[in-house]
Amino acid sequence: MSQLKQISHNDNSAPSTPGKFKIEKSPYFNRTRWHSSLAKLTLWSFAFLAVILIFFLRSPSSSVPIDPSRRSLRTYNWGGSAWEKRVRSSARVRSRNGMTVLVTGAAGFVGTHVSSALKRRGDGVLGMDNFNDYYEISLKRARQALLERTGVYIVEGDINDEALLRKLFEVVPFTHVMHLAAQAGVRYAMQNPGSYVHSNIAGFVNLLEVCKSVNPQPAIVWASSSSVYGLNTKVPFSERDRTDQPASLYAATKKAGEEIAHTYNHIYGLSLTGLRFFTVYGPWGRPDMAYFFFTKDILKGKPIPVFEAANHGTVARDFTYIDDIVRGCLGALDTAEKSTGSGGKKRGPAQLRVFNLGNTSPVPVTELVSILERLLKVKAKRNIMKLPRNGDVQFTHANISYAQRELGYKPTTDLQTGLKKFVRWYLNYYSGGKKAVE
Ligand SMILES: NC(=O)c1ccc[n+]([C@@H]2O[C@H](COP(=O)([O-])OP(=O)(O)OC[C@H]3O[C@@H](n4cnc5c(N)ncnc54)[C@H](O)[C@@H]3O)[C@@H](O)[C@H]2O)c1
Repeated sequence: MSQLKQISHNDNSAPSTPGKFKIEKSPYFNRTRWHSSLAKLTLWSFAFLAVILIFFLRSPSSSVPIDPSRRSLRTYNWGGSAWEKRVRSSARVRSRNGMTVLVTGAAGFVGTHVSSALKRRGDGVLGMDNFNDYYEISLKRARQALLERTGVYIVEGDINDEALLRKLFEVVPFTHVMHLAAQAGVRYAMQNPGSYVHSNIAGFVNLLEVCKSVNPQPAIVWASSSSVYGLNTKVPFSERDRTDQPASLYAATKKAGEEIAHTYNHIYGLSLTGLRFFTVYGPWGRPDMAYFFFTKDILKGKPIPVFEAANHGTVARDFTYIDDIVRGCLGALDTAEKSTGSGGKKRGPAQLRVFNLGNTSPVPVTELVSILERLLKVKAKRNIMKLPRNGDVQFTHANISYAQRELGYKPTTDLQTGLKKFVRWYLNYYSGGKKAVE
């Protein structure tokens, strides 16, 4: 206050000679000038920030680079009586003792096959998928059309959308959830780590939050991955082996999923079964997987990268045919016990399981290429490369005795037979069907 008074006092003492403003020497005046410059600077900074903000808010979305991990957060159209009718009709059970299953990731490779198998045997099935563009959306749409012909409706939406999930459970009291929606792929995790957190962790938690609070709680079967074995060297991989050395962020999110599943089982009594799939292949497969893009590139005469481990070590995979995986999924759903909680509270211990679903006969990747060469009648241009350290492991090999015992799981398709079916589908889909091989 006294300072203010002194400043105003000094203000009044105007100089007799303009230009020789002696008052500049006053410490009070310097502070005043400093204060006012600071105020001006702050004002201009705010104005500048406001202009930038307005610019970004008003610019059309097409000119703003889209973060792929947030693409799936866009809003979808759902709701209304016609929509609810469609949902109900898709989920209607048509067999005695049939279940009502919500299949997430239904437009995906495994999701499409599992949904149609459930529908075929009379279970009620509703699909859900966000149709993200991790790989060609047209393939997901073609799978959707296939499912629609069998009476399965896929609701378009993200598993992070709590309101949508709650609405679905309000319309249909699902007895089971087959959770297959995820960000798959090992190498893409280095490009877009956020998409793995979004779908495999946040999305999974959101789904479990809804499942735990609905009444009755559904039993959940979900896809983990053989990648959780990471740098494990003991073969074949058994469910009891250590899984604390993931070699990729993808693997780490799947392992996190297993721990999260444990928590929801422990606290809320949700019945949870995790399935560790081993390199699934077959018709309607995923274009980012080696057998798929090898086929495409061999046909185009493009060189294909064939990895070898240190000292010319063999890289091998326990390739598992899709029909075998589907039988494993159905076995897991059929043997899943009811969840024990209600109203978000646990009422007793609930089932918690993890199974390997593999073929239990690993095949070197070089052999995969030879089979494709024979089936396609084209010699591959092999580009032998060192196995990069970006997530891929040298080999996978499943011990499936636990799944055999508990689920009656018994894979029956060898790689030669399965690839023959895949190649037939591929040539028909891309050459004869909707698209030509570019
Ligand atoms: N195919 C394999 O070899 C393999 C191996 C191990 C584990 N898995 C797991 O099996 C499951 C199915 O794999 P796939 O090969 O069918 O993959 P996929 O990519 O073909 O299917 C996943 C589907 O989930 C959808 N999706 C992704 N994030 C979503 C979200 N946030 N909300 C809603 N939908 C979303 C995608 O659009 C896609 O259609 C995944 O959980 C995957 O991690 C697959």
